[in-house]
Amino acid sequence: MDEKAELKVAGKSYFFPVITGSENEKAVDFSKLRDQTGYITYDPGYGNTGACSSAITFIDGEKGILRYRGIPIEDLAEKSTFVETSYLLIYGHLPTKVELEDFRTKLTYHSMIHESMLRFFDGYPSSAHPMCILSSMVSSLSAYYPELLDPVSDEQVDALVPRVLSKIRTIAAYSYKKSIGQPVIYPVNALNYCANFLHMMFAVPSEPYEVDPDVVDTLNTLLILHADHEQNCSTSTVRLVGSSHANLFASVSAGISALWGPRHGGANQAVVEMLEQIHRNGGDVKAAVTAAKDRDSKFLLMGFGHRVYKSYDPRAAIIRRHCDRLLSKQKVKDPLLDIAKRLEETALSDPYFKERNLYPNVDFYSGLIYRALGIPTNMYTVMFSLGRLPGWIAHWREMHQSSDSSRIGRPRQVYTGETISPYVPIEAR
Ligand code: CMC
Repeated sequence: MDEKAELKVAGKSYFFPVITGSENEKAVDFSKLRDQTGYITYDPGYGNTGACSSAITFIDGEKGILRYRGIPIEDLAEKSTFVETSYLLIYGHLPTKVELEDFRTKLTYHSMIHESMLRFFDGYPSSAHPMCILSSMVSSLSAYYPELLDPVSDEQVDALVPRVLSKIRTIAAYSYKKSIGQPVIYPVNALNYCANFLHMMFAVPSEPYEVDPDVVDTLNTLLILHADHEQNCSTSTVRLVGSSHANLFASVSAGISALWGPRHGGANQAVVEMLEQIHRNGGDVKAAVTAAKDRDSKFLLMGFGHRVYKSYDPRAAIIRRHCDRLLSKQKVKDPLLDIAKRLEETALSDPYFKERNLYPNVDFYSGLIYRALGIPTNMYTVMFSLGRLPGWIAHWREMHQSSDSSRIGRPRQVYTGETISPYVPIEAR
């Protein structure tokens, strides 16, 4: 018999279907709750709300499991490339050789942006954060593809997907070049996705630039680890904006803005700034942990805690290993890595962090790797955006193809303001 959940409210019983996911996670289907009872659910922060069903990513936050399309993140990080993982997330299966080659070719040949867009960059002050440039530039891309913006045309969406993935990478590199006053470097078709990005970031016209294969490998891994994380704040934003049938560029631009905040993707920049601050204060990690526990202070240990993970974030474990490997290969000793490890050890042995299941998240070590790759601090969240792009695209596409989430996203509220009040003329106020 189908499982039902009983709700007793105002003396009456109602029954609602229970739905079960493929990993046996349970949900009560309240989609008819208001129709049947007149009540709505109340769940600020949506911690208990399943806004859709999705076949893209599975997370078990208690066990520290993350899988894309069923494949463990550890295997993808070790064996896949970012381009292959992007294909997997967006199209639902690992590509054949022919499919992968075709996808790579499209990414290669759609990497340039319209030349007139270069002038947009000149309008920003040199102090502009690259995330604001990225989000507005991505929104501006809509202006150049009016014939590809119909979200319910499979043909148009398929033509748009490689353009979004490839051009946003170019914009990200250009926003950096403009911020340091260097000429932009055009994409090179002979280079693969990650090498091409590094070339656009670090080459200058006056001398040849060799892309280091170790750096390419590390970047591939980092982007794979960031590629999707089911219904997080930015992905939910992309879905919500997309549910109004806004085009893919507009939806992704909104996702970039959501990611920028320090509670979300902006945490990678905030972590390194926090570690630098601890370094300046003589490396006292205990003082930082004490400050983070103080309920009266606004200070949080950045890179710690997660809405879903109540154990070690599997991405943080992989990044920590890569960080060690890269720094020892480069024979670099970064004092911030030492501080990060001591900070982690101190926090993990502290009852406050233990009781609340607060562990390092993906952002705790990622900034340190970006630092080792020579990427400046204010570009870290841009790197996260590049990584998260295939996830946003996959969710946006899945939403448009699925029947259960085809309605516009429109939450309700519990109104707590004034009841009906008279309009008082200004002389009488
Ligand atoms: N440092 C100190 N205390 C913390 C921290 C932290 N980093 N994170 C959570 N807590 C405390 C919080 O104050 C609360 O304590 P109490 O129960 O006494 O009120 C308890 O732990 C539960 O936290 P919460 O705020 O209810 O958790 P949440 O699920 O609403 O927030 C979070 C999750 C990631 C926004 C939060 O942990 C945080 O702000 N962390 C720091 C920022 C960060 O690293 N963000 C990156 C998240 S992972 C990648 C991404 O999503 O982009």
